[in-house]
Amino acid sequence: MHEVKARETLASRLGFILLSAGCAIGLGNVWRFPFITGRYGGAAFVLIYILFLIILGLPVMVMELAIGRASKQNIGLALNTLTPAKKPWHVYGKLAIIGNYTLMMFYTTITGWLLSYFVHMIKGDFLGLDAAGVGSFFGSMLENPLSMTVWMIVAVILGFLPVARGLQSGVEKITKYMMIGLLALMLILAINSLSLKGGSEGLKFYLIPDFAKLGGNFFEAVYAAMGQAFFTLSLGIGSIAIFGSYIGKEHRLTGEAVRIIGLDTFVALCSGLIIFPAAFAFGVQPDAGPSLIFITLPNIFNQMAGGRFWGTLFFLFMSFAALSTLIAVFENIISFWIDTKGVSRKKATLINAIAISLLSIPCVLGFNLLSGFQPLGPGTGVLDLEDFIVSSTLLPLGSLIFTLYCTWKYGWGWDKFIKEADSGEGQKFPSALRLYFQYILPTVIFGIFIKGYWDIFVK
Ligand code: ALA
Repeated sequence: MHEVKARETLASRLGFILLSAGCAIGLGNVWRFPFITGRYGGAAFVLIYILFLIILGLPVMVMELAIGRASKQNIGLALNTLTPAKKPWHVYGKLAIIGNYTLMMFYTTITGWLLSYFVHMIKGDFLGLDAAGVGSFFGSMLENPLSMTVWMIVAVILGFLPVARGLQSGVEKITKYMMIGLLALMLILAINSLSLKGGSEGLKFYLIPDFAKLGGNFFEAVYAAMGQAFFTLSLGIGSIAIFGSYIGKEHRLTGEAVRIIGLDTFVALCSGLIIFPAAFAFGVQPDAGPSLIFITLPNIFNQMAGGRFWGTLFFLFMSFAALSTLIAVFENIISFWIDTKGVSRKKATLINAIAISLLSIPCVLGFNLLSGFQPLGPGTGVLDLEDFIVSSTLLPLGSLIFTLYCTWKYGWGWDKFIKEADSGEGQKFPSALRLYFQYILPTVIFGIFIKGYWDIFVK
């Protein structure tokens, strides 16, 4: 059995909630959620998504937090610590850490795009460009490996600086400020967007469900909503479990997870409130896909009164959201190094800042020098492959493993899980639904996993 060392802890409950929410809130909320919602017809999709957050995301988050809090370990060692004799489970600890690295291998590149757009907005580089001009601006950025690499490294450095400063004085403190800044920026941007003339059509699209719009897409939309629930909550790779390992037993974990998911959902819903009224006010369809915020929105800001100001705030907001995830996932990676390799925080940070910069280069090159490499079919690239490894493989697989581990006697077991989840004050885990958690939930997650592979390799 691994020795359980004295462990750093977070300074406050607010710090824990904001840090876990910061891990969850990211590109998934501000970039993926709006474009997927746009693609699947708006409000009806939002409802399906919220349903899956509750029936799928919430229990798995409680399980991750319980594994972290009971083991007081990083996911790399948590399963070994809780069930030393049940070796097959331990394998997933290492795979989960690989998942954290793989997520960062593309997340840093997109965060770099956001940071660069923030600076271009401040400089007024989009002013006077027509729609084609904004499109080719994005295209030229992708064609330039050098500048993309520089921005990716800026993202890596900004993410690692707080981690190097320490858990309480760096990660917790800076994330707290950033999250408060993010919430404030979001409210300002949402109010501006809602006050735009002609934005009400966008609100209707976003808030009044019309299931007919899903049409033949119903099952696709359901699948996308489930995948989005995992991605937005960073579930399945232990990046939430780490924050469980830094807290005491004062509060029951279901209540804590509800707060974290509540904040995450609030940010996602507000991103939609910012984007959809603006898109409709300027006659732009919201179904542009991944380029929605990089091409569609700068076009909108170009037409909006005070657009340069609003655009700058918008990309600052986006950058904060992305950086809060980088910091949280980097903290998870660094704690793995501290726990397993016995290196200092500073040394682990330096090694990993270099390693993650290097590991992120294939994603950058996938848009230019390596664009001939189309691993998942025509038009796909390195980013799609890495996203597939994380979103379609490790997030559902990890969530499935955590679910079985916590509810089956061959794993950690239901009783120990419930004892941990329900230690402290607050909302209890709904144990009456045990059969659902034990059989139906894993079956649904397994279905998601199989569908991801079916779509790519069989269909
Ligand atoms: N949960 C993170 C996000 O939403 C990965 O971006």
